[in-house]
Amino acid sequence: MIVLEGVSKSFDGGRRFSVQDVSLRVPEGRLLVLLGGSGCGKTTTLKMINRLIEPTSGRIRVGDRDVGKTDPVELRRGIGYVFQGIGLFPHMSVAENIAVVPRLLRWPRERIEARIDELLDLVSLPPDQYRSRRPAQLSGGQQQRVGFARALAAGPSVMLLDEPFGALDPITRDGLREEFMQIQRRLGLTAVMVTHDVTEALLSADLIAVMNAGRLLQVGAPHDLMGNPADDFVAALMATPKRQADRLEALAAAHANGEPRASATGGQQ
Ligand SMILES: Nc1ncnc2c1ncn2[C@@H]1O[C@H](COP(=O)(O)OP(=O)(O)OP(=O)(O)O)[C@@H](O)[C@H]1O
Ligand SMILES: [Mg+2]
Repeated sequence: MIVLEGVSKSFDGGRRFSVQDVSLRVPEGRLLVLLGGSGCGKTTTLKMINRLIEPTSGRIRVGDRDVGKTDPVELRRGIGYVFQGIGLFPHMSVAENIAVVPRLLRWPRERIEARIDELLDLVSLPPDQYRSRRPAQLSGGQQQRVGFARALAAGPSVMLLDEPFGALDPITRDGLREEFMQIQRRLGLTAVMVTHDVTEALLSADLIAVMNAGRLLQVGAPHDLMGNPADDFVAALMATPKRQADRLEALAAAHANGEPRASATGGQQ
């Protein structure tokens, strides 16, 4: 379980707050999606969970540990992190990238080698083909698979994912999201994933936490947020996928009737 209690972060001594008074709880084995626009504080919130950023105030617990009182290196052994924009080490091979944390933990060589193969199989990259490639020799989707494998290397029970599918085309994105969700469920990972994509949040989350300007507006199951939005912002956000689907449907109907494109959208953008 991950618990945030009244967590705030100011980078300028308290003049402005990037994250303000955020409280939320992610039950064991569940996936919470942090959803909000650019700059609203998603990455900052995520990084406070594994002490990449120290909160200005508030408390965070991961399992039975008080994060602020746990040694950061020790803490991160149990927490996988997938960085925004993939973030593999370009000068290292796929195998070396995956081995970073096990090496820090001084695992014996055979155990590390076996773990690399096991993880490459898990993310559907045949080890004999991919082990010795560099990140630049992989597609974006393949790099993201290696990013997952690296985050899973030390067998964490908690995963933090910052826009893990952000750099991918829609088809790769859908496929990889499905695969990640299966892995997350199978391994029983407690996970927090950041996205600004409402459809992605609705499709993948057990719980969605909507943020705006550093504040948490609402936390709930996807159907709660759609059925009972806390305010106009959440209502408008949750309505986006349906609004887009309606417009596409109108376009398709207009096309079938041979109407010009502008009339299907009402001529508006
Ligand atoms: N190290 C830092 N020093 C100063 N300000 C920072 C720092 N990190 C983030 N901020 C500010 O905090 C705010 C929230 O940033 P954050 O990276 O958490 O946003 P985000 O929701 O992840 O946005 P995006 O979707 O664009 O990645 C922004 O205004 C940003 O400029
Ligand atoms: Mg971010």
